[in-house]
Amino acid sequence: MALNQPQTIAILLAAGEGTRMKSDVPKVLHSILGRTLIGHVLAATDSLGAHERVVVVGAKSDQVIEEIAAHDNSITTVVQERRGGTGHAVRIALETVEVPDGAVVVVLAGDAPLITDATLNHLVQVCQNANAGAAVLTADVDDPHGYGRVIRDPDNGIVKIVEEKDATDEEREVHEVNSSIYAFEAKALKSALAEIKPNNAHHEEYLTDAIEIIRASGKKVIPVVAHDYFEILGVNDRIQLAEATAIMRDRINLELMASGVTLIDPPTTLIDVTVTIEPDVTIKPGCQIEGITTIGRGSLIGPDTRLFNCTVDADAVIIKSECDGASIGRHAHVGPYSFLRPGAHLGDGAKVGSFVEVKNSTIGAGSKVPHLSYIGDATIGIESNIGAGTITANYDGVAKHQTVIGDHVRIGSDNILIAPVEVGDGAYTAAGSAITENVPPGAMGVGRGQQRNILGWVGRKRAGSDSAKAADQASKSK
Ligand code: UD1
Ligand code: CA
Repeated sequence: MALNQPQTIAILLAAGEGTRMKSDVPKVLHSILGRTLIGHVLAATDSLGAHERVVVVGAKSDQVIEEIAAHDNSITTVVQERRGGTGHAVRIALETVEVPDGAVVVVLAGDAPLITDATLNHLVQVCQNANAGAAVLTADVDDPHGYGRVIRDPDNGIVKIVEEKDATDEEREVHEVNSSIYAFEAKALKSALAEIKPNNAHHEEYLTDAIEIIRASGKKVIPVVAHDYFEILGVNDRIQLAEATAIMRDRINLELMASGVTLIDPPTTLIDVTVTIEPDVTIKPGCQIEGITTIGRGSLIGPDTRLFNCTVDADAVIIKSECDGASIGRHAHVGPYSFLRPGAHLGDGAKVGSFVEVKNSTIGAGSKVPHLSYIGDATIGIESNIGAGTITANYDGVAKHQTVIGDHVRIGSDNILIAPVEVGDGAYTAAGSAITENVPPGAMGVGRGQQRNILGWVGRKRAGSDSAKAADQASKSK
């Protein structure tokens, strides 16, 4: 940080109840693409290099306080017991931290998740460079309903902000609105807060009144119009939550495409902010890529695939599948219709095919589980093949047990491997086996009854049936 760079203090206002969400979950803990609303706002403030960050929360906000500490446990939280207004909230936040007069105080709303770090940094720069009392982020909107209106003076500074309920008819015609995101010179803010009175329709201390007070004291208040009015969008209900999600989705997708990722159908591709995707990955329509997921160069994902907390190496292919907590090696192939559960590890070139579920198991390099199987608590070596319909019976009703399959093994179709059990390197098992005993390396394990044919049974027991007639025909034509 430069020597004469003033300290920055960030204050997030998040004490609102969020009643319009109609939810048991506090509003700011609702999520957009892998991060809570408050998490997005905090992330935007990460690059400010703020000396202190203070979040004002409402009563009964234990979960919100936990979420904030999870983001960064050096953040201060202040509980606002009763709604005293945005001015009151900032006032109590400032009381909890040391704020030098020369500091810049950035104020943000906890429910406006689309603000970017670039805009915040710009706002701070404008406030400092102009030696202003405040810089206010504003936006020109088609429908200013519900927002505070920005009243400019002839030199294009801001004279005041009027709330809709307190505005004259003429003031209501203004389409430039207050975002509730500001940068203040600390000294100007502190003295203005001391003067704010709850003389308004809601009997609250309005932070917006600080603007008029600062201006009257002879300091400049500078409007900064957001390039993109989305940045100021607040989330108050589920409809706005969906709108904000769509905007965030587009932002993430545009950034990925710019970095060399092909998205065949961006509107149906939902990728969390926490995901990392290398160039030359192709994502087909209808995918959700969530949590801490990384996808290596050249991989092909989708259509209709969900990945959550997965690691996918280069050149893998995952088609129409659900993968949660799995790691997938280079050139591995998953799907269509596979279900990889936590602890599923696929080696390089491994294959998991249709209607196969894998849990807490390692499938070695080049090994294949192509069709209709359940593989749980198993270790499979390299270059082995598991026949269609094979199941590891890992659960005896009380405890889970391991199945260990070696390298270059051939498990026949429709086997049931009753764990704990081991099949040695290079062993085979016969189709339809119930394998209850270990199979030594190189052995053929046969675990099924000898077949016997009871000749003439249908003719005797099902006399006159179509089956009996067909059998009769067959014997005559011989
Ligand atoms: C506020 C602004 C308005 C602006 C709009 C932008 C004021 C008086 N008005 O109006 O000019 O156009 O935001 O969305 O500031 N909060 C607290 N404690 C309180 C009151 C509010 O923490 O006592 C928090 C809320 O949780 C929210 C933020 O402050 O995150 C803004 O409060 P809200 O009630 O949404 O203000 P608006 O009426 O929308
Ligand atoms: Ca609001």
